[in-house]
Amino acid sequence: MYPDPYLQELKAATDGWFARGLTAIAITATGLLMGFSATPAHATDHTAAPAAKAWTPASLRGALAALPTGDAERGRVVNQQLFCASCHGDKGVAPTQNWPHLAGQKAAYTAKMLLDYQSHLRSENKGAALMHDLAVMMTPQQIADVSAFYAVQPAPRDDGTPRPTAGQGLSAEQLVRKGDPARLLTPCASCHGVKGQGGKLEASALAGQNPLYFTRTLLHYQSGLRANDAAKGMSHFAKKLTRGEIDALAAYYADLPVKP
Ligand code: HEC
Ligand code: HEC
Repeated sequence: MYPDPYLQELKAATDGWFARGLTAIAITATGLLMGFSATPAHATDHTAAPAAKAWTPASLRGALAALPTGDAERGRVVNQQLFCASCHGDKGVAPTQNWPHLAGQKAAYTAKMLLDYQSHLRSENKGAALMHDLAVMMTPQQIADVSAFYAVQPAPRDDGTPRPTAGQGLSAEQLVRKGDPARLLTPCASCHGVKGQGGKLEASALAGQNPLYFTRTLLHYQSGLRANDAAKGMSHFAKKLTRGEIDALAAYYADLPVKP
């Protein structure tokens, strides 16, 4: 699908990992059936439900407000018991370049993603299908707890993943801080924070994110495969970026926490 070596490398690596992922899910499901303390939310829902209705800003606010208060210490246990840690790490820093880092992520964003995976609103690829199978086993309390846990972990440092090289277009610095008035591109920092620490509501933290994941997900917004954003801002902006700019931004954010 993506005729370029950068993402092909990811795809090859990822395919190999799916076997392990499925094992983790099988173990998780077995654990739940054998009477884990948790009550699965929809453990019997194995049908591919149609995507839920898209969020409006109001319906999203309502859904997030309806979640119970999260507890980071309980979330640490959820991260282990539901095997999230096997792919996303004990502290939300993924041990391989195949998976996104979750450490330092805003709780509202993480919770929204888990709701979106549950409902198939986010269903861009095999990884999302896998996340769906896990998310439907989670209770609202577990979603709130695990989101609270990642939010209090220090922002990730991605040491292992190769950085893409910037291509044609504006520099990342310019796009992040000034945007591009000619294309009506709002500065990324106005929503994601000047340090990539995240902004209001579900505007995600980006600092230290795995650049392979970052590139891939922006391309998914661009192609419309990922369309779970509530206000359609991200899809809109992604469509205006060149591939070279996406690569530059991925490298920029990956190194953000260690920049002077
Ligand atoms: C087998 C590996 C695997 C396991 C186990 C796993 N994940 Fe994931 N997770 C992924 C992949 C792959 C993606 C990216 C999917 C995509 O591109 O939509 C992802 C994405 C996510 C995202 C969205 C990240 C973002 O930046 O948008 C969240 C949140 C998440 N996972 C939470 C969890 C939680 C909580 C658990 C445990 C219940 C879990 N994951 C278990 C592989 C895994
Ligand atoms: C108007 C506000 C806004 C602006 C400007 C904006 N974003 Fe976003 N961005 C968001 C929101 C909100 C989300 C979460 C969308 C969702 O629910 O999927 C998001 C999600 C993302 C994600 C996905 C994060 C993940 O972990 O999967 C990336 C990557 C991203 N933005 C990069 C950028 C870049 C790069 C720019 C600048 C070119 C930018 N954004 C500009 C609001 C914005």
